[in-house]
Amino acid sequence: MTSVKVADDGGDTVNVVKVDDLLLPPFPIEALVKLPEFKLRSDDVLVCAYPKSGTHWVWEITRQLQAGTIDLEVVEKDDGMIELSLASHFHDQPDPRTLNTHLPFDKLPFDIYDKKCKIIYLLRNPKDVSVSYFNHHKKLEEFYEYHGQWKNYLPMVFDGRLDYGSWFDYVLGWEKAMMSHTDLPILALSYEDLQEDPIKGITQIAKFLGKNYDDDFIKTVCEKCCFKQMKKDKGKLEVFNGEPIMYRKGEVGDWKNWFTVAQNDWFDHVYKTKMHDSNLKIRFTLDS
Ligand code: A3P
Repeated sequence: MTSVKVADDGGDTVNVVKVDDLLLPPFPIEALVKLPEFKLRSDDVLVCAYPKSGTHWVWEITRQLQAGTIDLEVVEKDDGMIELSLASHFHDQPDPRTLNTHLPFDKLPFDIYDKKCKIIYLLRNPKDVSVSYFNHHKKLEEFYEYHGQWKNYLPMVFDGRLDYGSWFDYVLGWEKAMMSHTDLPILALSYEDLQEDPIKGITQIAKFLGKNYDDDFIKTVCEKCCFKQMKKDKGKLEVFNGEPIMYRKGEVGDWKNWFTVAQNDWFDHVYKTKMHDSNLKIRFTLDS
């Protein structure tokens, strides 16, 4: 494992670490190197997403659905993030555990094949992901020490310079894995669908978890996990420079406030080229 400073197109750098061939955030070293051996349990649920795709939201929904109550200890998503803490932290968590990770499919713990725990895979429009990731890298100044500008940042999300690698590699890796590991229980969802009809999405997650809740409970979870409520309840747990950085806007289409016409044309072209052979069925429109 090595510490690396990756430069954006203007020469400003972002701190990351390199473990084998994967770039990761500057997290505790010991947790990162032991990831492949992470011990999963068959009743674990693992929420997987490229960073800034809505992991906090879906992890909280899943946690409440798993527990059958919204009255849970208020903890941040990091509490279940497998690449962040040592195995001892997770060992003492009661069953069923709701875990989360941004790892690409081929870096997930080996145990996914044996334990076949349920996996919820979340996608988001890459344009909104890139805007959200830019704000993340800027605001988490004490980790990343990044002081760059948006105009020099965008390509980094898509050419693999940042932590967790390229968005394209991530989603194409997952698509390939879902086609070749049809025996693994994976539910794929999109941030945009969940925004459009959260009740439908939450019902879908509940069914996938084998839960049969009435409409009232689904509605309660929906309200407890809406952006405004989560920001109020949980925003204070992850504050940097006075801002609840994990709850920024929580909207579909904020990219339109950031992308220039040239950036949009560039991205649409790269998307077409990279995703040419993809059969991605999830709806995540590029123009909304
Ligand atoms: P924005 O930066 O566009 O606002 P992740 O959890 O994977 O880090 O993703 C963070 C993104 O999800 C941020 O997007 C954040 O505001 C948004 N988000 C967090 N909680 C949300 C919620 N309850 N509903 C909708 N979006 C949410």
